[in-house]
Amino acid sequence: MSEGPSKPEPLSAPAVGSSGSSAAYWARYKVVAPKYFWAEETRSATIVVAGAEGSTLRDADGKTYIDLTSQWSTNNLGNVHPEVLRATIDALEQYGFLIYFLHPHLPMIELAEKLLEIRPSPNLSRVFLELSGTGAVEAAVKHAVETSRRPLVLSFLGQYHGLSIGTGAIGSLSSEERRHWEPYHGGAVHAPYPFPYRRPPGMSEVELGESMLGYLEDQLLRYEAAPDRIAAAILEPVACEAGIWIPPANFVRGLRKLCDAHGWYFIADEVETGLGRTGSMWAIDHFGVAPDMVTIGKAIGGGLMPIAAVLGDERAMGEEGVAAGTTFGGHPAACVAASTTIDILRRDRLAERSARLGTLALRRMEEWRKFDGVGDVRGLGLCLGVELVKEKDPQQPDPTTTRSVFFDCVAHGTLPLYNYGDNVIRIQPPLTIDEPMLDQALDTLESSLRHQLSRTAG
Ligand SMILES: Cc1ncc(COP(=O)(O)O)c(C=O)c1O
Repeated sequence: MSEGPSKPEPLSAPAVGSSGSSAAYWARYKVVAPKYFWAEETRSATIVVAGAEGSTLRDADGKTYIDLTSQWSTNNLGNVHPEVLRATIDALEQYGFLIYFLHPHLPMIELAEKLLEIRPSPNLSRVFLELSGTGAVEAAVKHAVETSRRPLVLSFLGQYHGLSIGTGAIGSLSSEERRHWEPYHGGAVHAPYPFPYRRPPGMSEVELGESMLGYLEDQLLRYEAAPDRIAAAILEPVACEAGIWIPPANFVRGLRKLCDAHGWYFIADEVETGLGRTGSMWAIDHFGVAPDMVTIGKAIGGGLMPIAAVLGDERAMGEEGVAAGTTFGGHPAACVAASTTIDILRRDRLAERSARLGTLALRRMEEWRKFDGVGDVRGLGLCLGVELVKEKDPQQPDPTTTRSVFFDCVAHGTLPLYNYGDNVIRIQPPLTIDEPMLDQALDTLESSLRHQLSRTAG
C-alpha cells in the first residue's frame, strides 16, 4: 500500500510580537522588500508594528506610540474600531465575497443610499463603488472624459491622486517620477495650486486666488488647451500630501464658475479630506461649492477594509454607461464596514469633534510661530501642519530639520505624519483621539521643535 502524500508541515505563525525586535524584523524585511519600500529615504520610521488599538500603535519591542497619522487619514475612527470590526466579520460570514457586477447585494445598495445621505450637494445622485482612491479617481475621470467626449483634465501642481499610470498623469508627480512614463502622460494640463503661504510678499489671499484664476483664463486656456477640449477640473479642496495646502475660497468658487462657463465637470478629490477630517463632512463644504463628482476613499473603509467610491451627478453617471470598475470594488464586507463607518461618524458627530479638537490644537500651534525655524502653522479640523523653513522665509524650506524633528518625536513615542524630503510635519490623528492624548502628542512635538530648532540655531 502506498503511503500517500506526506503530511504537510504545519505553517509556523508569524513571530512578530512574540520575540525579536523592530530592528531585527526590519533587517529581515529588507532582504525581501522591493527597494522603494525599504530605502532609507522612503520609510518614515524604524519601527515594525506588532499591534494597533484606538489612537496608538505598538512596535515589536513592545513600545507604544501615539498615532498622529491615522494611516494617511484612513483610520479616522481609530485603529481597529470594535463596531466596524464586528459588523465586518458578520458580513464576511454572511456573504463571503460577491462580485457586485454579477450579483448586486444588499450591503452595496445600503452603502450607496447612505453615501447619498451624506453627499456634499444634492446634485450628486449616483454612486460608483471602487477599491482604492486611485481607482475612484480613475473612474471619475473616465466618466468625465467619456460623457463629455473631451480628452483633457485640468489639474493642479502639488496635488496627489495616486501612482497608477492614469492618476500619475493627472496628479503632479515629479519629473523624476515621470521618467519612462512621459508618453502616457498627455491627458492632463496642470496649473499652479494657489498655496497661500508661498504667495508673493504683499499679495493678499484674495489677490492670490484672483491671479491664479487670471492665469487659467489668460494663459492656460489661451496657450495650453482650448476650453472645449477639457472634460473636468480636479481639485483637492485641501492638498494634504503636498503639506496641508488650503486654497483661497475665491479661487475655489471662481474655478466652479469656470467649470460652469466651459462645461467642465468639477471633481472634488476627497480621498484624504473626506469624512470629517477637516472638521466638516467634506472639505469642499468649507468653500460653499457644489462639485459634479466627488472621489471618496481611505476612511470610508473604517480603517479595516479597502473600499472607495465616486459620487456623480446625472450627467456624469445617469445617462451613459462607462466601462470602469474592478473585481473587488464592492466587496460585501467592505460595504458593510463603510456603512457602519458612516453610521458611527454621524452618531458620534466626529466631524464636529474634528473641528473642535482641530481649533484647540491650532490655537496651541500658533504659539510655535515664535520658534525661528517655524514658518507657518495651518490646518482645518484635524488636518494640521507645521512648516519648517530657514530664516522665516517661505522660499527656504528646511527638510533636514524637519526630518530631525520627526525622528525626535518617534523616539519620544509620537508618530506624526511625515513624507521623506518634506518640510512639513503633519498632524492627522484619528478623529476619536482622547483630548489628553492629543495634548501629550502636541507636547512631544513642541519639545522636539524646541530641541531641534535650538540645535539648528546653535
Ligand atoms: C487626494 C488623494 N487622491 C487619491 C489618492 C490615492 O488613493 P489610494 O492610495 O487609496 O489609491 C490619495 C492617496 O493618498 C489621495 O490622497
